Amino acid sequence: MAAGGPANHGSNRPDLRRVACNPDYWYPLAQSRKLKRNKTLEVAFAGEPIVLVRTDSNKVFALEDRCAHRQFPLSKGLVCGEQIQCGYHAWRYDATGAITTIPYMVTGVRPPRHVRAYPCREAYGLVFVFPGDPALAEQTAFPELPWFESQDYKVMSFERDIACHYTFMHENLMDMNHQFLHRRLMGRVKPRLLSHGKGDGWVEAQFRFGDGGGKKHRGANWLTIGGSDDETNFEIMTIRTEYPYQTLKIAGIKTGSVPSLALWAAYVPTDRHERRSRSFGILLVKKPRMAFLLTLIWPVLRHFTESVFAEDRMAVEAEQRAYETQGGDWNQEIFPVTIELRDLLLARGIKPVDGDVRYTSTAP
Ligand code: FES
Ligand SMILES: [Fe+2]
Repeated sequence: MAAGGPANHGSNRPDLRRVACNPDYWYPLAQSRKLKRNKTLEVAFAGEPIVLVRTDSNKVFALEDRCAHRQFPLSKGLVCGEQIQCGYHAWRYDATGAITTIPYMVTGVRPPRHVRAYPCREAYGLVFVFPGDPALAEQTAFPELPWFESQDYKVMSFERDIACHYTFMHENLMDMNHQFLHRRLMGRVKPRLLSHGKGDGWVEAQFRFGDGGGKKHRGANWLTIGGSDDETNFEIMTIRTEYPYQTLKIAGIKTGSVPSLALWAAYVPTDRHERRSRSFGILLVKKPRMAFLLTLIWPVLRHFTESVFAEDRMAVEAEQRAYETQGGDWNQEIFPVTIELRDLLLARGIKPVDGDVRYTSTAP
């Protein structure tokens, strides 16, 4: 606890904002559309520079973004067929990270053989990388988005940089009591916790929204975020962190109701100290019987979601700034779901070592 801070809740120790994101999971590092054929893309996981490559045959691979020779970023190189060529002295690498060509081979010297390659998969319009122990990649669950392929849903994708530790993002979404922050968009919506639970690697909460009146954004009305006082037919919002991902689903109370809205999100630390995150989101919105209506209202929904996110970003970045000013986590959390979530993030994350966050490194 930082000097001068209040007596923290037990789950605040060790400092959650110094707990590194566990690299032994599949993380999205880019939207597929940003990685063009025969091009590279510079990305990062927790300060580890990674280059994504899309080859001539449309295969995608990921290598550490530094040439074995003089650590020049490979992302500044050229894609040659199925390989990448460093832009400095033209060494070539294949998808496994092996050096295939050194154009000016000299005798009597044993050259390096390779750079690190990361397991890499493309799905849901995202490029996923496994930044941890590659031996664990195959056996580690890949995210499942059950409605992604369904023709019944329209997809909205997000990618944004946020100046905060990834844990703030999980807490922000899970604690629906923050709807007051969105009062200009949601009106006086009244969230009520119906139930919550936790298990191995997950925390989940169900909320119901009561309508307290007030003006709402048209997008909130369309997405049925705003509450209903009908006791027989109302929507339940389920928010779940299944480490390291988070989902939000809105579905009717009636048995067998399919979600009217489903969000999948991942918050990926980009800098070594994990004070910045790249947030990836996939929002699926159920098409109405007259599907063209959704197409018509789509710009309104996008404006609504962007506006909500802007308010959330303002809040979580302010929280991060407060953390920096204080030199520690002074949160005094009282909401049981958030307390359970903090415990989960602490248990699954990588605890600080010697007063610093741990981060993956391939440095020799
Ligand atoms: S730094 Fe890459 S070839 Fe020299
Ligand atoms: Fe929010």
